[in-house]
Amino acid sequence: MNLLVTGASGGLGRRALEALKQIPNLKIRALVHKNPLTAPGVGVVQGDVTRPETLDAALEGIDTVFHLAAVTHSNSEAGYQEVNVEGTRNLLTVGARCEVKRFIYVSSRAARSDGGSYSVGKLQAEELVKNSGLPWVILRPAEVYGPNSKDAVNKLARWIRQYKIVPVIGDGSQGLSPVLIDDVLPAMVEALFNHEAEGQIFDLAGPESISYSELIDRMSSFFETKVFKVFLPVWLVQGMIECVLLFKKDFLARDQVSRLLCDKPYDIQSAKSVLKFQPVKLEEGLEQMFGKNR
Ligand SMILES: NC(=O)c1ccc[n+]([C@@H]2O[C@H](COP(=O)([O-])OP(=O)(O)OC[C@H]3O[C@@H](n4cnc5c(N)ncnc54)[C@H](OP(=O)(O)O)[C@@H]3O)[C@@H](O)[C@H]2O)c1
Repeated sequence: MNLLVTGASGGLGRRALEALKQIPNLKIRALVHKNPLTAPGVGVVQGDVTRPETLDAALEGIDTVFHLAAVTHSNSEAGYQEVNVEGTRNLLTVGARCEVKRFIYVSSRAARSDGGSYSVGKLQAEELVKNSGLPWVILRPAEVYGPNSKDAVNKLARWIRQYKIVPVIGDGSQGLSPVLIDDVLPAMVEALFNHEAEGQIFDLAGPESISYSELIDRMSSFFETKVFKVFLPVWLVQGMIECVLLFKKDFLARDQVSRLLCDKPYDIQSAKSVLKFQPVKLEEGLEQMFGKNR
């Protein structure tokens, strides 16, 4: 099978390549954009999903597309639209011309109409995939965490261990379902080959919904440290973000607040039965990540 991985130089993309390289008889091509990628055994093609003329060389002879490329944090609504929506449209159009046999779209558990620009874009891209005429699978990971990454769980761990004071937006009741990257990767690989997966959307979330406040408590007890939670009203956080953005343009993406606060119901049963998804509990994931270095 000839596989194209977009977003291969990203956090999830690099780990996905490692897992995919273990599969025999899989010829992998990686689409790289700005950041370089060194991946022995992988064919690297330069391209930009917003420029369809760069995609023919990437998609020529490809059976399956694993579409991870996206803008995940931006203060430009147009940035989310151009890359996440129109970029996906371009890939689907060129993919159809190149007779791609399966299109796996990595969406997000945050794909919702009330979660802000990123969430809306992910939902719109899902619709494009579903209506593309190509055989498709959609994966919706929750908050992915793992070793050596810059994800939210790692950042929270640093705050808990270094500062002992953690800001909480609102009352901290918003539900999160952190999922270990090592649990997500086998399900992603399974989506490549499993025929039953075709035409389905799979939530890839941790085994339980944990409120942000409880997440802080459970992580501080894992690290055997006491932390002080500072509850900040949503309006105050939004105001503070706007003030900092005046001086530091890439401080935070505005829509991260709505993305965090919106209700994100999910169901991992079909991922468990079809993709053999077996997510571990938070403490087990933290143990795998930090082990003796806790
Ligand atoms: N990480 C998570 O917790 C999580 C959770 C749910 C869903 N997801 C989804 O998983 C996917 C990967 O996430 P990630 O965390 O690995 O993101 P990431 O680290 O920000 O990587 C994004 C990738 O997309 C590429 N890209 C951006 N614009 C592009 C363009 N115009 N043309 C081609 N490639 C482009 C980037 O390349 P350059 O850097 O070179 O521009 C990078 O390789 C995304 O679709 C994201 O929405 C992630």
